[in-house]
Amino acid sequence: MSLKRSTVKELLASQDLDREVLVKGWVRSRRGNKYVQFIIVNDGSTIHTIQAVAAAENFPEETLKDVGNGAAVAIRGTLVASQGKGQAVEIQATEVTVLGAADAEAYPLQKKATSLEHLRDIAHLRPRTNTFGAVLRVRHALAFAVHQYFNDHGFYYVHTPIITGSDAEGAGQMFRVTTLSADKPPLADDGSVDYTQDFFGKQTNLTVSGQLEGELAAMALGSIYTFGPTFRAENSNTARHLAEFWMIEPEVAFNELEENMDLAEDFLQSLVKYALANCADDLQFLNDQYDKELLGRLNFVVDNAFQRLTYTEAVEILKSAKQKFEFPVDWGTDLQSEHERYLVEKHFKKPVILTNYPKEIKAFYMKLDDDGRTVQAMDVLFPGIGEIIGGSAREADLHKLETRMAEMHVPTEDLEWYLDTRRFGSAPHAGFGLGFERLVLFVTGMSNIRDVIPFPRYPKNAAF
Ligand code: 4AD
Ligand code: MG
Repeated sequence: MSLKRSTVKELLASQDLDREVLVKGWVRSRRGNKYVQFIIVNDGSTIHTIQAVAAAENFPEETLKDVGNGAAVAIRGTLVASQGKGQAVEIQATEVTVLGAADAEAYPLQKKATSLEHLRDIAHLRPRTNTFGAVLRVRHALAFAVHQYFNDHGFYYVHTPIITGSDAEGAGQMFRVTTLSADKPPLADDGSVDYTQDFFGKQTNLTVSGQLEGELAAMALGSIYTFGPTFRAENSNTARHLAEFWMIEPEVAFNELEENMDLAEDFLQSLVKYALANCADDLQFLNDQYDKELLGRLNFVVDNAFQRLTYTEAVEILKSAKQKFEFPVDWGTDLQSEHERYLVEKHFKKPVILTNYPKEIKAFYMKLDDDGRTVQAMDVLFPGIGEIIGGSAREADLHKLETRMAEMHVPTEDLEWYLDTRRFGSAPHAGFGLGFERLVLFVTGMSNIRDVIPFPRYPKNAAF
């Protein structure tokens, strides 16, 4: 029987020594002297590497010439307690096979420190670095934890469309989807583009949010969530924005704003807790390498209740703050990230949930407060991140919703299907959207959102 491959993770945790093992992975380094060579291998299963020891009597230099940085190898040998320090076990190699050689000099991932900016240009190879291996494993764990949380809490996962005809956020930052010729589109009699001839017979775009369709499902299944790709053509060259990102949007029938906040807080704390419990090695590495306060911050978020206050109260705090802001604060204006970060990092020193924003700066679907000036919005603000969640209680009253749509020039003819939920068995409901990459950014302590998604899309960049 042929020997089954073990992962590095399995071998490092193994108590079962002095047996024959087979490991396959990529060489991180090879060093040694004329008696013995040490081959360090990583296979992605863990941030850690395993060391294979190749005695020169069995492996003349010639046989190892292709075993250089970046090469893919298969190593067979005996798993033994390590003689050296730094690792518990190592492999006494009996056979080293090069599966794929790599020209060590041309290999773009050299030992000398490679900047995160440079790694973005070689994003096809960066998963092989410790940093991106850690980030990608944490990203996976968080995605898994999202599904686990909702499954455990009785939510159903709903797949909402990626191609839609509506603009859920009314912000007009959409990528158009069309099969019409870009140079010579068919024209209608009035000279405008004739979209009736387009693939779907109308204008379509990539979705900016699955919420509106998610609401339809919540009004039948009770508690649902979406988790899918989301697209925004905003020209934001910031460390917090992507043109393509993943959003998680729970929506719960019969929930009011308060319950929506409770859900958001419990959800975020559970996700961070899951990462702390299941990604300890990777988080420790990121803590040591990039951000010495990372683990402390993650534990703090898990252990402390979020601060809840209204937008109006926040504006009062910001107006009396000693700090000078670049953008002035006045009731009615949207808060900038400098304001959000002041509240979270300086004033309260903990996550903040801001509620009841002026209706003018929020989307049409949010439930109007009794004063007629504010809506039942809620934004969750996190240290180092700013807004991580945006959500609200939804306007369940057909008449009020139609009035808001008219005021905000949201065309009702495209959204009759949405209004039907308010016509037939309407009920209070609430939900929110969590930007998945902002969560990964927070949990990994990385500083740029382009470094927490394998292949980032941002203005002037769609490489790979
Ligand atoms: O606040 P937003 O725009 O809310 C919505 O889309 C609602 N439909 C959500 C809902 O109520 N179901 O976006 C939600 C979150 C933000 O808080 C942020 O974390 C993230 O999505 N987000 C982005 N993340 C990365 N890049 C961008 N360009 C983002 N825009 C929003
Ligand atoms: Mg928002």
